[in-house]
Amino acid sequence: MDHFVYRDNQLYCERVPLEQIARAVGTPFYCYSEQTLQHHFAVFRDAFAAAPHLICYSVKANSNLAVLDTLLQQGAGFDIVSAGELARVQRVGCPPERIVFSGVGKTSQEIRSALEYGILLFNVESVGELHRLNTLAGLLGRRAPVALRINPDVDPQTHPHISTGLRRNKFGIPYNQALALYREAATLPHVELLGLDCHIGSQLTALEPFVDALRRVLLLLNSLEREGIPLRYLDLGGGLGIPYEEGRLPPHPRLYASALLAELAHSPFAQRQGTLILEPGRVIAGNAGVLVARVEYSKEGEEKRFLILDAGMNDLLRPALYNAHHAILPVARRFGREERATDVVGPICESGDFFAHDRLLPTFQEGDLLAVRSAGAYGFVMSSNYNTRPRVAEVMVRGDRFAVVRRRESIEQLLENESLFGAST
Ligand code: LLP
Repeated sequence: MDHFVYRDNQLYCERVPLEQIARAVGTPFYCYSEQTLQHHFAVFRDAFAAAPHLICYSVKANSNLAVLDTLLQQGAGFDIVSAGELARVQRVGCPPERIVFSGVGKTSQEIRSALEYGILLFNVESVGELHRLNTLAGLLGRRAPVALRINPDVDPQTHPHISTGLRRNKFGIPYNQALALYREAATLPHVELLGLDCHIGSQLTALEPFVDALRRVLLLLNSLEREGIPLRYLDLGGGLGIPYEEGRLPPHPRLYASALLAELAHSPFAQRQGTLILEPGRVIAGNAGVLVARVEYSKEGEEKRFLILDAGMNDLLRPALYNAHHAILPVARRFGREERATDVVGPICESGDFFAHDRLLPTFQEGDLLAVRSAGAYGFVMSSNYNTRPRVAEVMVRGDRFAVVRRRESIEQLLENESLFGAST
């Protein structure tokens, strides 16, 4: 459920017409609904109410400070993957004991910053990282809180670019090496062995891969238990999909939670009241945001019509990168217009610069506004300055008010860090 709805044929975000924001802020812009974020988070959190848990929203999905602050107020913790994301969650005042740090390539500097802040867990992905963590923690006179990220080798049945839980993927510690590495980690003086982590991919639309992965890691947890290595945390990552297209419904968070909790119920981990950690990103932010763009030109090709927007693949990369489907809605709905197969494209000189191919859409005219739906996750965060295009503004709506939560970049800002050869100071 979200709060992007038509009233009198005008598309609103909560109680603000998107048209009004476009007039004030210009286009393109991302628009987030605070109430939708809160609702998605609450539904997800409540679904796990029956077990001790911590929901660490995956910052990479949408890292705007206002979004993080909204979720923090709801009780969220955060899953981070860089020093930059650490700085963001520190900026909104997230206490260290609600932060987990994921990623295959943590640098020494990143590890040090996180150790100094005293985060809850490092999700460690290699032997090398484990030893580096041990050394750095020793130098700081601390113990590093560690979970090992295990690659359970299950097929998440999602787009290959966003599948991470297969043996051939770069992520995690190979399942068959896990026990040995736990034994080794248990001997390291500056490592506090606290958990097991796994994340198998993103935009999963079936429950089976999640359940399969959980079964695999539970076997491991049980073996560890028998060896006298009981773990306090089980982090099951993120990955639950969202509906991008009508009729293709991924499981509701309640179903997802009950499948996982049922599987866990009789494990020694659950009986010891171990804490479950989840790292949802897309399911919280995806349908809480839209990208609003204006039609610059409507062009009749030989076979079809092209709508050329003022937004491009640099603003929303998902269609180009994953051939992803995003619904496209008129901001002002007008009836009686004939629907035609339309390519919705951006201004950038590559054929990958599109939002939709052969989409049945009503006639639009130059100057009309469109909303690209489900753009709240992996939208703005993946945008770039390709073609020296300033990144667009981000707006958040709260009830009948809105605020710009990230200003549109200026061209001056884009040039600021550059200099001619020899002219830098
Ligand atoms: N935890 C870890 C360790 C992850 O790698 C990810 C996502 C998440 C949690 C959050 O997953 P979610 O709940 O959002 O599915 N750019 C791609 C998605 C990449 C996801 C990367 N990892 C896209 O636009 O579809």
